[in-house]
Amino acid sequence: MTSTVPDAEQSNAPPARAVIDARDLVKRFDGNTAVAGMSLTLAAGEMVGLIGPNGAGKTTLFNLIAGSLKPTSGEIWIGGRDVSQESPEKRIGRGVGRTFQIPKPFLEMTVLENVLAGAQAQDGERLLANFLRPGHVRRQERLAIDKARTLLEFVTLSGLGAQPARVLSGGQRKLLELARILMADPQAILLDEPAAGVNPALLETIMDRVLDLNAQGKSILLIEHNMDMVTRLCTRVVAMALGKPLAEGTAAEVAANTDVISAYLGATA
Ligand SMILES: Nc1ncnc2c1ncn2[C@@H]1O[C@H](COP(=O)(O)OP(=O)(O)OP(=O)(O)O)[C@@H](O)[C@H]1O
Ligand SMILES: [Mg+2]
Repeated sequence: MTSTVPDAEQSNAPPARAVIDARDLVKRFDGNTAVAGMSLTLAAGEMVGLIGPNGAGKTTLFNLIAGSLKPTSGEIWIGGRDVSQESPEKRIGRGVGRTFQIPKPFLEMTVLENVLAGAQAQDGERLLANFLRPGHVRRQERLAIDKARTLLEFVTLSGLGAQPARVLSGGQRKLLELARILMADPQAILLDEPAAGVNPALLETIMDRVLDLNAQGKSILLIEHNMDMVTRLCTRVVAMALGKPLAEGTAAEVAANTDVISAYLGATA
């Protein structure tokens, strides 16, 4: 007898616990394949490290997951749904927040205003609501400002809320980005080199905040060249090179993997 209920093995749906499921992604630019068949899952509450030499395709993979680039082929699933054709804004709404390798805050806006910019933009709705329910909109704005202040406190920047973002150091800009993406209450957070160029004291703060977020149940995917940070934070590490997965395991296992060592040596040469 044939069943009408698809069995789990035949179903196209990803495992229920995967917050992010990137499947066989390929991204070609003119004459250059940046991602060449990369799959990666991030489970609920997991903290995964993504390492690999310069040019391995790590940031491109983030761009594909977050939606700022469309894949040449392959699929992105978020929370059990195929979002491959969805805009970056839609994916933020589905709970994915990402920081950039080089933060680009609005330099002349205040630090607080930069955090507020991370609230989900709903301009059309807002215009109408402003007209129909002005009191409600003002209340929402007050709540957003309270939330932005709380987040600035969380990232230890509360004393700088009224300053223009241009006064912030590189490390403080990374913390500002973190506060900005937290405005949208992401379930999964993609961090692109949060330690790069950051002084040691601020690096401890960044690591503590990332650990706090993970302890709150948020899933974290961390691109980092700082292996000390990866070792301290990540339970699982994925290494990639030339757009493909190379190895996966604990930080120690991946760091000792001969393919990974050769890829780093090759990139240096
Ligand atoms: N928009 C683009 N157009 C053309 N080529 C690109 C583009 N973005 C990335 N690439 C190329 O794709 C490859 C992967 O780049 P990517 O930035 O993803 O690497 P990465 O692993 O993040 O490196 P790094 O550790 O230096 O940040 C590189 O060869 C890069 O030059
Ligand atoms: Mg990069």
